[in-house]
Amino acid sequence: MTKLAVGAILAVALVTASHTAASPPGAIYIDPLLYNVVGANYTEWRNSSAIGFNPTNSTPPFIQVFDPSFLDVTGPSATIREIASNPGFDFAHEAPIYVPDLNLVFFSNTGGGTLTYSGWYNNSVVSMINMTLVDEALARTTGNVNIQVQTLNLSDNVQMVNGGTGPYRGDLLFVTAGRALLPPSIVRVNPSPPYNTTVILDNFLGRQFNSLNDIKILPGTDIMFFTDPPYGWLNGYRPEPMLPSQVYRFDPSTGQVRVVADQFVNPNGIAFTPDGKTAFVTDTGVFGGFLETNQTFPATIYQFDVEPTTQSFMNRRVFAYSDSGAPDGIQLDTKGNVHAGCGDGIHVWNDEGTLIGKFYLNSTASQLIFTKSGLVILAETAMYVVNIQARGMTLATL
Ligand SMILES: *[C@@H]1O[C@H](CO)[C@@H](O)[C@H](O)[C@H]1NC(C)=O
Ligand SMILES: *[C@@H]1O[C@H](CO)[C@@H](O)[C@H](O)[C@H]1NC(C)=O
Ligand SMILES: *[C@@H]1O[C@H](CO)[C@@H](O)[C@H](O)[C@H]1NC(C)=O
Ligand SMILES: *[C@@H]1O[C@H](CO)[C@@H](O)[C@H](O)[C@H]1NC(C)=O
Ligand SMILES: *[C@@H]1O[C@H](CO)[C@@H](O)[C@H](O)[C@H]1NC(C)=O
Ligand SMILES: *[C@@H]1O[C@H](CO)[C@@H](O)[C@H](O)[C@H]1NC(C)=O
Ligand SMILES: *[C@@H]1O[C@H](CO)[C@@H](O)[C@H](O)[C@H]1NC(C)=O
Ligand SMILES: *[C@@H]1O[C@H](CO)[C@@H](O)[C@H](O)[C@H]1NC(C)=O
Repeated sequence: MTKLAVGAILAVALVTASHTAASPPGAIYIDPLLYNVVGANYTEWRNSSAIGFNPTNSTPPFIQVFDPSFLDVTGPSATIREIASNPGFDFAHEAPIYVPDLNLVFFSNTGGGTLTYSGWYNNSVVSMINMTLVDEALARTTGNVNIQVQTLNLSDNVQMVNGGTGPYRGDLLFVTAGRALLPPSIVRVNPSPPYNTTVILDNFLGRQFNSLNDIKILPGTDIMFFTDPPYGWLNGYRPEPMLPSQVYRFDPSTGQVRVVADQFVNPNGIAFTPDGKTAFVTDTGVFGGFLETNQTFPATIYQFDVEPTTQSFMNRRVFAYSDSGAPDGIQLDTKGNVHAGCGDGIHVWNDEGTLIGKFYLNSTASQLIFTKSGLVILAETAMYVVNIQARGMTLATL
């Protein structure tokens, strides 16, 4: 890494020279121009997308700046701090929902233990973390804190919670991936005791979905859009897929369900711009469950125009390809920057698809959610908060 080490020192110097005032503590500027040519003798080739890009070999977690405009996202004092940790258990994986009135973040784990076709009781566990307790604890120290998360006890027909958004008319809105012949579904969950649940969709004209993965509401409407990859089959807890990998639109007032996009390997995260005119769908095709990882498949965010009348997804184009892991959860901030959970942390692209920075963890960050305290990151065995300046979209109209 000799050649790059020199570049790294230059890069740090650049931060100091032009962005001292605005640079968050410990942030590293990685000027792409310094890394465009590394030479044939380079010894750090990344021949696995599981390895992160950390050319300055800095100690994670830290902020990587690929374009100075990222400092407008981070603000001057952003730091990445752990707020919960359980090294033995992947408790924080999917479906983050922030409920501002309660100042709670709800989320689910991967599967509550070994995924099995018939293992009924290892429901994907839904938990919550109290951000008021997080704020109070963070104020008492400059380091990490470990706030106890609380497990919800949802009804037995809510299995394998894999995606979520809201609040939707006051409720959490989850998608479940189903388990065995229990159908995947969209379910409303009361965010307060007794956490009662109501399934609002569990089939497409009598056909089971494959294993629903994520959901968003089109801004300014109450129309739901959700993704349906075959991960239930690929991970051994659902039968063979019997529908293509598609994105669906559901109008809960009329009950109409229809397909708005197809031609994915494994459609995963979904998001809209604040004006509702543009949609993003991530494809984690690179991760194939029992078919294993294949780096020739997508780790890609596709962008679409939302057709104003039909709300079909039109004019598909590549928005960004992630250099690490695959983009899973995706959230936009109010400026239209696109934040996605990837293999080495959170990647942030501006609205033109330029990678401007990363919240670099050196481990998988599958999901993220904006809260009053900042950006909360789900990283399997740990949760983090970054007190960034950018603010997330809200569903204020509902
Ligand atoms: C690469 O290493 C070889 C063998 O040590 C050396 O001869 C060559 O000059 C090096 N090339 C560059 C571009 O540094
Ligand atoms: C991948 O890179 C590592 C070190 O960078 C090397 O040891 C290994 O042989 C490489 N594997 C392939 C398949 O290129
Ligand atoms: C459920 O998970 C526990 C550990 O979390 C594991 O010991 C048990 O085997 C799992 N059961 C099934 C049916 O998957
Ligand atoms: C969160 O913690 C605060 C501070 O202790 C407490 O006042 C509040 O009731 C808690 N919220 C919930 C939903 O438990
Ligand atoms: C869920 O059940 C467990 C075990 O009975 C209990 O400890 C926990 O407090 C319950 N969670 C909530 C949010 O009530
Ligand atoms: C929970 O129960 C209350 C009282 O019956 C009901 O009004 C509410 O709609 C329920 N919420 C959900 C999400 O099922
Ligand atoms: C990856 O997928 C391509 C295209 O299907 C296939 O040709 C190749 O053999 C696969 N590689 C591995 C390592 O499975
Ligand atoms: C990043 O994680 C890998 C294991 O995934 C580890 O080998 C490496 O030392 C870590 N790098 C740093 C800088 O912590």
